[in-house]
Amino acid sequence: MDQAPNSTKRRTALITGASAGIGRELALVFAHHGHDLVLVARRADRLEALAQEVKVKFGVKAHVIVADLADPAAPRKLFDEVAARHIMIDALVNNAGYTVPGFFRDTKWSDQAALIQVMVTVVAELCHLFGPGMAARNYGRIINVASLAGHLPGAAGGTLYAASKSFVIKMSESLSLEYQNNNVYVTALCPGFTYSEFHDVAGNRAEVSKFPKILWMDGDVVANQAYDAVMDGKAVIINGRLNNVLAWLARVLPQVPMRNLMARNQRNAKAKT
Ligand SMILES: NC(=O)c1ccc[n+]([C@@H]2O[C@H](COP(=O)([O-])OP(=O)(O)OC[C@H]3O[C@@H](n4cnc5c(N)ncnc54)[C@H](OP(=O)(O)O)[C@@H]3O)[C@@H](O)[C@H]2O)c1
Repeated sequence: MDQAPNSTKRRTALITGASAGIGRELALVFAHHGHDLVLVARRADRLEALAQEVKVKFGVKAHVIVADLADPAAPRKLFDEVAARHIMIDALVNNAGYTVPGFFRDTKWSDQAALIQVMVTVVAELCHLFGPGMAARNYGRIINVASLAGHLPGAAGGTLYAASKSFVIKMSESLSLEYQNNNVYVTALCPGFTYSEFHDVAGNRAEVSKFPKILWMDGDVVANQAYDAVMDGKAVIINGRLNNVLAWLARVLPQVPMRNLMARNQRNAKAKT
């Protein structure tokens, strides 16, 4: 089913993983800039509370769609549900994500398969579903949330996390070129450590809390930079000066010392307790 035009001229942003962290902040930023929202995640209560919050604060409408994106049918169902509600998506934010801590060999394949589904397949499939409509209407903004980790060599533990984020960066770069004549801007957002629930879910909050404060950014800062970057048509944004320096070092330093550096970084290797 194709998407029907919106009845108002207000633009609508669909945000996955809007129930917490960076996704919630991105929802607030798009609402602040006058967008209606489609909020997607598993926790309905969080999404309903956010929908109410943006209505009161910014006077925008927010639709809630509860979905477990690990379900391979979820992207298509989401696209069809949006069409059935006659909502036209002008901006897509692929944000939902997490890591599977521990060494690859010690984890269940079902957990790794779910990570690939949520952080690789869903990101690609939602771009594939919503991108053509945006191009046909000559307007679209897509933020794919990657990570600084996607620019660094792989570390032990959390094995598919950095790999999935590298995928997201490369795919976003390609899509931004493919859509450059359609007024559809695609941005890979690459934050470093950001305050959110991410490390609570991963079970390594105590360890990462010991990292220096200078490494951390607030979610609202990351979200505002993401919004500006996609509106400016930047294909990739790495948040914060220090994270840019780290990504630059990873590009210019010989690979052996970089890998040695990553070998000391075992934070993701700790299994979830
Ligand atoms: N925080 C960081 O340091 C950091 C750094 C770089 C990149 N990132 C990236 O930023 C993005 C957002 O992470 P965050 O830091 O904001 O973490 P967070 O606070 O834990 O939020 C993660 C969001 O993803 C949703 N989600 C997870 N699994 C899902 C599933 N199966 N189906 C639907 N929604 C799902 C969660 O919603 P429900 O649980 O309600 O479903 C939640 O809204 C991720 O892609 C992450 O990789 C984070």
